[in-house]
Amino acid sequence: MIFIRRAELADAAQIQRVYASTNTYSGTLQLPHPTTEMWQERLRQIEPTDTLLVAMFDGVVVGTGGLRQEKNIRRRHVASVGMGVADSFTGRGVGSALLAELLNLADNWLNLARLELTVFRDNAAGVHLYEKFGFEIEGMHRAYALRNGVFVDANSMARFHPKQPRVPQSGL
Ligand SMILES: CC(C)(COP(=O)(O)OP(=O)(O)OC[C@H]1O[C@@H](n2cnc3c(N)ncnc32)[C@H](O)[C@@H]1OP(=O)(O)O)[C@@H](O)C(=O)NCCC(=O)NCCS
Repeated sequence: MIFIRRAELADAAQIQRVYASTNTYSGTLQLPHPTTEMWQERLRQIEPTDTLLVAMFDGVVVGTGGLRQEKNIRRRHVASVGMGVADSFTGRGVGSALLAELLNLADNWLNLARLELTVFRDNAAGVHLYEKFGFEIEGMHRAYALRNGVFVDANSMARFHPKQPRVPQSGL
């Protein structure tokens, strides 16, 4: 059974194991060989406007999902989304459970109107997961990041609060 809760400092070693798995660091902007100390430092530096959740499976941390709210006062309605699930636990609904709870927080507690993210274009599971939860592709970044020796493209995706009114824009 999957249980979602906020990450704590004591989770650093387990989160390090999640991001030590090849697909997890390759699919995000993390590097190989993460250390527990690095994750302890990140967890210590989490700001009140950041949200970092962990997914527990049988008492073990198997994934994380986060929201980072923009600091610019005119972009405070925006947060970026990031997530990763340990390679050996993908395809079991962990990513869906994390994203569902991030959206619940964004829509009902954090006063966020726009969620945005980048995901590598060839990450079929990631793109499918985000589209399943209402994210749409807004554009493409070419050679967005280096991944195992190759520059890869990324989709820019966004999803709006279901009840938030927006001013219609004419095509620019
Ligand atoms: C992307 C990721 C978070 C998905 O996590 P997960 O726990 O496997 O997600 P779920 O089990 O909830 O499945 C998500 C959906 O993707 C689908 N899926 C899995 N592999 C797929 C593939 N190769 N192509 C298309 N869809 C795929 C699943 O069927 C599921 O869809 P459904 O609910 O409609 O059946 C996970 O694979 C991951 O951490 N990858 C590495 C890091 C990463 O890519 N992070 C996100 C980029 S910002």
